[in-house]
Order: sequence, then structure tokens, then C-alpha cells
Amino acid sequence: MPDRPDIAPTVAFLRSQLSGRTPAVGIVLGSGLGGLVSRMTDRLTIPYGDIPGFYGSTVVGHKGELVMGRLAEVEVIAQSGRFHLYEGHAADTVTLPVRAFAELGIDSLIVTNAAGGVRRTFRPGTLMVIADHINLTFRNPLFGSVLEGEERFPDMSDPYDARLRETAHRVAATHGIPLADGVYAGLLGPSYETPAEVRMLERLGADAVGMSTVLEVVAARARGVRCLGISTITNPAAGIGHEALDHADVLEVGKRVADSLATIIEGVVGEGA
Ligand code: HPA
Repeated sequence: MPDRPDIAPTVAFLRSQLSGRTPAVGIVLGSGLGGLVSRMTDRLTIPYGDIPGFYGSTVVGHKGELVMGRLAEVEVIAQSGRFHLYEGHAADTVTLPVRAFAELGIDSLIVTNAAGGVRRTFRPGTLMVIADHINLTFRNPLFGSVLEGEERFPDMSDPYDARLRETAHRVAATHGIPLADGVYAGLLGPSYETPAEVRMLERLGADAVGMSTVLEVVAARARGVRCLGISTITNPAAGIGHEALDHADVLEVGKRVADSLATIIEGVVGEGA
């Protein structure tokens, strides 16, 4: 039996820092998408280095801090920078923050990521609500004995909450922000895909491809937390565009649409995510 993570010290430490504040919504901010934090008021920032079980971030564009604050009058906790499998982390480390958020009391989780566009009409800067995902990491954070508060066989027929998705589309329309809808394929990384792999993903029904999100959503669903996912399409996936892929471009495009993304998230939170 593999060792299971002990999330109790993480949760106890965070509780001691939050002085009675209870987050209703957890937010995971992907590559270059940290701008939302500046919209939060009454902020309390906790560097990952201080948190038991957390690691510093090794990825450029990922800050490595938790920020508790108020967004649209709602108490939220945001993970600015996440842990990826490709950094060498176990699935349990990748999902530790989400599990801790669930223990702290969140009802819903909003995950963002940078992704390559598999759908041929997607341009860099397209925002896409994740309608469903394909977990191609071949890892699962529920592997092993069952953690307290989690289901053994969670239903994954509605991984991304229909009502939250609807709200996201309504908020985006109100602000005149184009918002697509599609399937996200989560891969291990860190090398980008080959053109043949992207053609395979296209045939499998994926619209976007990235290296995160799917494990966090599996862990959240096992605890009954409702999820909303939004991808920023930063580049056409390999073989669809003609340019070589570069992490700096990913960050640049992420920054360009960060404000629109933040507007959608703030609107969804304000409507009672
Ligand atoms: N592939 C995988 N992950 C990504 C990509 C991509 O093309 N762009 C941003 N993250």
C-alpha cells in the first residue's frame, strides 16, 4: 500500500494563519495568470515555503504563494502557482492544496491553466470553459487507501459543474468577452506534444491540451467540491500552428488576456460560485 499524504499539518497550519476566516471558493491560478490576486481585498499572503507539505515553485510565471482575500464580497483562497507532475511531484503533492482548501470549507473550485489549442479555429488568447477533460497523465490522486472525506469511486459524469459553466458564459457575454467551450486533455509533460500526438488528441475529442488541472479536479470531485475550469489558449498545439512552442510566449499571451479572465472569475464568484 503506498503511503498516503498526511494533510492534517497543512490544514492545521493554514487554520492558524487564517484567524477564523473561512474560504467559500478556492482558485488555482495557472502560468502567468496571477493577476486576479490584485483584485482581492483584505489580502493575507502565505508563501509556500512556510506551509507544511508545500514546495517552492520551480516554474517561471508561477509565484508560489497562497492568498486569502475577498473577491466580489466573497472570501476566497487562491493558489498563485501550482505543483505539476512534470516537476517530479507525486499526484498527492499536486492535489495537496485542493484537498486542504476542501478541509478549510470551500464549496467550489475555480481552476485556470494555459493550454495549447487543438481545435483548429482556436487563436492565441482564446478563453475556453472546460466542459470535460481527458486524463492522459496516467496518474490518479485517489490511488491507494481512501483518505477521510473522499469517495473511493467518485462519479465523474459531471466533473465541471453545469451551473458554474453557465454562469461563466453569462458573465462573459455581459462583459462582451468571447468565451469558447471545449474538452481539455491533461498530459504529464514537460515536453510539448509532437504533431502526431496532437492529431491523436484531436481524434480523441480534445479541444485543448495542457499539463495540469485534471488531477486537481479529480481530488475536488472526490470531496464533492463543484469545479469550474477555464483554459487560456496560449498557442496552437504542435503541428497546428507553424511556430515552435516556447514557454515565454505562453506567459505573454496569458498576461494579455489575464484581465478578461479575472473579470469572468470575479463575476462567477460574485454570482455565488
Ligand atoms: N501543450 C501543452 N501544454 C501547454 C501548451 C501546449 O501546447 N501551451 C500551454 N501549455
